[in-house]
Amino acid sequence: MSVVKQSWAEPFKIKSVEPLTMSTREERERVLRLAGYNTFLVPSKHVYIDLLTDSGTSAMSDSMWAAMMLGDEAYAGSRNFEHLVNAVRKYYGFRHVVPTHQGRGAEHLLSRSLIKPGDTVPGNMYFTTTRLHQELAGGAFADVIIAEAHDPHSTHPFKGNVDLQRLDDLIRSVGADRVPYVSIAGTVNMAGGQPFSMENLRQVRSLTSKYGIPIYLDATRLLENAYFIQRQEEGYSNWTVAEIVREICALADGCTMSGKKDSLVNIGGFLATNDKRLYEEACNLVIVYEGLHTYGGLAGRDLEAMARGIAESMSDDHIRARIGQVEYLGETLLKRKIPVVVPIGGHAVFLNARSFYDHLPQDAFPAQTLAANLYLQSGIRAMERGIVSAGRNAETGDHNRPALELTRLTLPRRVYTQAHMDVTAEAVGETYAERRKTTGLKITFEPKYLRFFRARFRPR
Ligand code: F0G
Repeated sequence: MSVVKQSWAEPFKIKSVEPLTMSTREERERVLRLAGYNTFLVPSKHVYIDLLTDSGTSAMSDSMWAAMMLGDEAYAGSRNFEHLVNAVRKYYGFRHVVPTHQGRGAEHLLSRSLIKPGDTVPGNMYFTTTRLHQELAGGAFADVIIAEAHDPHSTHPFKGNVDLQRLDDLIRSVGADRVPYVSIAGTVNMAGGQPFSMENLRQVRSLTSKYGIPIYLDATRLLENAYFIQRQEEGYSNWTVAEIVREICALADGCTMSGKKDSLVNIGGFLATNDKRLYEEACNLVIVYEGLHTYGGLAGRDLEAMARGIAESMSDDHIRARIGQVEYLGETLLKRKIPVVVPIGGHAVFLNARSFYDHLPQDAFPAQTLAANLYLQSGIRAMERGIVSAGRNAETGDHNRPALELTRLTLPRRVYTQAHMDVTAEAVGETYAERRKTTGLKITFEPKYLRFFRARFRPR
């Protein structure tokens, strides 16, 4: 294995490039005003370095682009579907595979198939689309992540772990028959890209087995989680990340997947399960909402690219360089004394907007404000992961007020260079130097679901 090397470099060279555009501050002021101070509403042509998300923004390899020419665009039973099923079986180990257009398509199928009204789904912190699908199916999400996950200063190496006592108490209080499954996400997005440990998952498995409750993984960034296990958990330093991913999946009953992250594709996802009954129900639903169960809303070429992307992603050199770049940005910011969530996560560096703007109340949307100001300063686009993302309580209608108020600098895979990271750190430093001038934002428009995508604001 190559992980004994001291430093990392990207295990690829660049064959094709896309020019970047730089705008003036006056242009950005206008664009931001028109976008209602929401970086999701900024047209990408006005963005310099795009750190909005790592979702669907990766650079595909020459092999994956070549795969796009091998699309078998038959309506039914395309050979690309077989390749995808083989890749999922080989690398994730689950037997049945239903392709979907992206991760939330798979979440929809899983939630609709397993959740009955009044059920509770425990999970290691909420994710926006995952929780919404659980709620739309009549269920309620219950957070059972360890307390350290809500503390941006805690250096716990596995902040994605489940609090076993909390999980046990929850199952006892609602009744095991009202818990259709436990949802476990790899490198927990909303906690700052923080992993769970194999030991913790094993304990979750033994607890849930006692009650006959299945585990469904959100495998979106499971590979990144596996890398942290390899590096930080005793007993795994000689395992490959691919072996660790298989071991994790062997402790679960299935997974939902957004192939737009770990699997390096621009579009695609799947639901995978060992449960034949769930598979049968998911096949019924996918045909209604996505497309036939052998393409699930994707073209044959997309299925082929995802099959190859899965295989390519399972490389120690790839994942080490990917997370190495995230850590490089995080450490550069730490050297500049910028408040960021520690430990640095797998897919992004999360700025602690509460500390950044410690003079602003949470109702002035500090993380949204920070994303807007960073854009204004530099043309670099980040994303809010705080009170706006957390939405409103379904019963009371009040804001959910998460402990974490974060602005995410998310790194697309294989897209930017170390020099882009340096420029980003400088821009964040300049935004930090001007922090006292900031008065925050007011919300002026709020959509019904997943408001962070389309909400509009104005300066307070
Ligand atoms: N689960 C996690 C942990 C995610 O981060 C996402 C998407 C999904 C599920 C849904 O997948 O977008 O393919 O439908 N996260 C993106 C992000 C949007 O920017 O964090 P999807």
